[in-house]
Amino acid sequence: MRIPFIGGNWKMNLSLEEAIKFVEEIKPKLPAANVVETAIAASPLFLESMIEHNSDSPLQITAENCFYKNCGAYTGEVSPQALSEMGVGYVIVGHSERRRYFNETNDIINKKVHAVLDNKMVPIICCDETMGRLDNGDHFSWVVSQVTAAVQGVSEDDAAKIIIAYEPSWAIGTGHSASTAEAEEGCYLIRQTLADIYSDEIADQIRILYGGSVTEKNIAALMKEPDIDGVLAGKASLSPNEFIKLANFQSLK
Ligand code: 13P
Repeated sequence: MRIPFIGGNWKMNLSLEEAIKFVEEIKPKLPAANVVETAIAASPLFLESMIEHNSDSPLQITAENCFYKNCGAYTGEVSPQALSEMGVGYVIVGHSERRRYFNETNDIINKKVHAVLDNKMVPIICCDETMGRLDNGDHFSWVVSQVTAAVQGVSEDDAAKIIIAYEPSWAIGTGHSASTAEAEEGCYLIRQTLADIYSDEIADQIRILYGGSVTEKNIAALMKEPDIDGVLAGKASLSPNEFIKLANFQSLK
């Protein structure tokens, strides 16, 4: 059974003080990790303090990015080994904002996926569909190629642990979420792609999230779809109250 995964991606928002307050505030209101897993991805500058204030909480403190080497002459980069040593369990890899503004290619993203797994963390691999949809209407082959490239060389054992997020760029930060049918179609396609690469058994274990203008209003419908195992919320994860509602989506209508 796939445990639902409700993640927040703060991007480059909030202050350290707000981050610590957030973690403390949501702690008593989160579901148990074996019912719904919850995660917040934050700036690497906040992670250590957030972890310190997160004791006895099911929340997974998550990184938004890392480099693909553990150490070396890479000024300004974030070491996956250092994240792992700090107690980070999950790392977002290949968010569309990283692809767009920082020129991350499928090859770089694949290297990052391996680096995260090698450091015993779980990659949350994002794939979008902007270019396909805008350029030639072939958004599905764009998604398939991103997923296929990201997991290249990943063993079956590791593949079963990864999380994939389907995040159409046109739905990110726009207030225009994909419809439940569009979101399910994208997540279903990703699962079929994983089944082709690995097997039905492995694809059935991999959690696939939808991201793009998720709110307390649309989460319940999204989570009813068979191939949507969770969400990655941006804006809605910045408020503790909203994040608590997302985490407890099972009690929303
Ligand atoms: P929004 O929820 O603000 O659209 O952002 C989604 C996102 O980018 C999650 O990674």
